Amino acid sequence: MSEPKVEVLFLSKQEVESILTYRDVVDAVEDAFRADGSGQMIVPSKEVMRVGPNRANCIFAMPGCLENLKTAGVKWTNFYPAQPEDYPTIWAHVLILSHEDNGMPYAIMDATAITNMRTAGGHAVVAARYLARKGAKTLGILGCGAQGRSAIRSFDENFQLERILLCDASPQAVEECVARLGDKVRARLEAVPTPQALAEQSDILLTATTCRTPLIREEWLREGCLVDAMFAFNDIEPAISRKFDKWVVGNRDSDRIEILEHPNFGHLLRPEDVYGALGEIICGRIPGRESDRERIVFSHMGMGTLDIAVGARLAEKARRLGVGQTLRLT
Ligand SMILES: NC(=O)c1ccc[n+]([C@@H]2O[C@H](COP(=O)([O-])OP(=O)(O)OC[C@H]3O[C@@H](n4cnc5c(N)ncnc54)[C@H](O)[C@@H]3O)[C@@H](O)[C@H]2O)c1
Repeated sequence: MSEPKVEVLFLSKQEVESILTYRDVVDAVEDAFRADGSGQMIVPSKEVMRVGPNRANCIFAMPGCLENLKTAGVKWTNFYPAQPEDYPTIWAHVLILSHEDNGMPYAIMDATAITNMRTAGGHAVVAARYLARKGAKTLGILGCGAQGRSAIRSFDENFQLERILLCDASPQAVEECVARLGDKVRARLEAVPTPQALAEQSDILLTATTCRTPLIREEWLREGCLVDAMFAFNDIEPAISRKFDKWVVGNRDSDRIEILEHPNFGHLLRPEDVYGALGEIICGRIPGRESDRERIVFSHMGMGTLDIAVGARLAEKARRLGVGQTLRLT
């Protein structure tokens, strides 16, 4: 039998950035959670390899399969706090997609923009669609780095917000957000001096710092709020998980390993306090928000399947628009 011809679509960082929109990302991520809720998602655990001086750097693989899209894939990514030169700590991710039915790869793309957009601008927005109070007007952002900026763009597109409040240990990070995004969004961007002032005023509070000490206390959070926690219970008080009306996770298996068994705060969490997973709510298997008074916390540490869902949609769009190059593997 002759060897099959295998062709892959190759998309560079610039090509991905030229066609990927927050609408694509949010729709793809919502579909991925729906697949999870209907048993069509396979999420093996992330494989982390520690390398470099004192094994301080990591390179890791995030595999997954979305049976609804007949696509499997892997994101090959890195976290390099001990960079030899002046490089960012998280940078340059690669995504490989394969057909689920015959295992053949069909696309290779830079996944840096996908990673930045699918988290605070992607899964946090999807969670808020189902868990935020209707008519939420004020979004608070604690941590105005790459994720905070992604949240500003995507939440502004997806909700009728009046104010987006910004708080960061670095005044420059807040200034940069306002300078870069102030005239690109409909809501008013305002700096807030402390995490407490931020928590007290937010209908939706998005936490995206790199701080490993809780900055947000349960008693500061108002009736009806949603806390959308990108860094889980590193930067918010773990007691929020049991004192709030509902604690929702992104995926029961991956968040059990990465949140409930976390070496720093896992012992302060109780598995029985998990209300359910976002996909179960999206599929209507359990209710989401049931009243304007409920306080809800959503925590999720990300999955390769979210990148795969966005990448599959992007590959289809690139083919339609004639973007990218086709390379022959065999
Ligand atoms: N859940 C997921 O899927 C997922 C995916 C990507 C990143 N993350 C997490 O999101 C967080 C943000 O990532 P990023 O790429 O935006 O990082 P970043 O370095 O670009 O931004 C982090 C921001 O937090 C601020 N900060 C740090 N300590 C603070 C403190 N004590 N008080 C207030 N602000 C403080 C920094 O000044 C910085 O502006 C990280 O912890 C990262 O691990 C989660």
